[in-house]
Amino acid sequence: MNRLTGKSCVVTGGGAGIGAAVAARLAADGAQVAVADIDGDAAERVARQLRDQGSEAFSGQVDVSATAQVEEFVNDAADRFGRLTTIVNNAGVAIPGSVEDISEDDWDRVLAVNLKGVWAGMRYAVPHLRSAGGGSIVNMASAQALVGFPGWAGYAATKGAIVALTQQAAVEYGAEKIRVNCLAPGTIMTPMNEEIFRTAPDPQALIEDWNSAHALHRFGESDEVASAAAFLVSDDSSFVTGTCLRVDGGLSILGPSGRAT
Ligand SMILES: NC(=O)c1ccc[n+]([C@@H]2O[C@H](COP(=O)([O-])OP(=O)(O)OC[C@H]3O[C@@H](n4cnc5c(N)ncnc54)[C@H](O)[C@@H]3O)[C@@H](O)[C@H]2O)c1
Repeated sequence: MNRLTGKSCVVTGGGAGIGAAVAARLAADGAQVAVADIDGDAAERVARQLRDQGSEAFSGQVDVSATAQVEEFVNDAADRFGRLTTIVNNAGVAIPGSVEDISEDDWDRVLAVNLKGVWAGMRYAVPHLRSAGGGSIVNMASAQALVGFPGWAGYAATKGAIVALTQQAAVEYGAEKIRVNCLAPGTIMTPMNEEIFRTAPDPQALIEDWNSAHALHRFGESDEVASAAAFLVSDDSSFVTGTCLRVDGGLSILGPSGRAT
């Protein structure tokens, strides 16, 4: 029996990047997986691949900032799988801008997707996890919740809030055997960062600078975040709740003298 046999999971933002890797890892470990993404075609490509590999999976087009869409998809997943034990609230957008520069529209959008989307996922999954006799929620924060990066005021605000919201939910639902944790990845090469590097004036210099900001002197892979997510979903983490697990190659602990030259 695989480690996640008997788990039924929703993964938001599962059509690409970290979310797609999480969906693949949970399925490979035996879970049923419902892949939600604002890009419905991308979500279906991931779900089809999981089915081709013998897993039970389906997809849906969901904008996590639209709470009614989240509610419908989560309820659908619980109906189709018979129960729901897990939600991985991974969907997020990287919208740059300093405190002064970010527009009000951008501020509202990044909060709506990254923060309200996480709240909505928890809000509509908790009743099903309760019915299942317990479960695990994994929220996607970021190393940017823990250390400041100039020019990312709104994004960082959402990720810091996810750490606090995770703790809040962990204390609210712990007695019902619902564990709630979050992950704080460092730099992971996904479509989100490929776009940032593609549009940088000197992409290679930026890549080298960011590499050197990690104690391990490299970026992470989506699979390395997915394996941490699988741990938090699994019963191997049965006494872990309210935590923010850094999967950041040491990004958030490195002082200036630790940087590669
Ligand atoms: N890549 C990194 O370095 C990094 C580091 C720390 C945290 N994170 C976080 O990890 C998560 C995934 O990041 P990624 O790098 O894989 O991003 P990505 O942009 O590569 O993929 C994100 C996926 O989410 C989907 N999405 C975007 N808005 C959505 C919405 N409103 N509703 C539903 N789906 C939506 C996109 O279509 C895409 O498939 C995000 O929460 C991000 O903030 C990423």
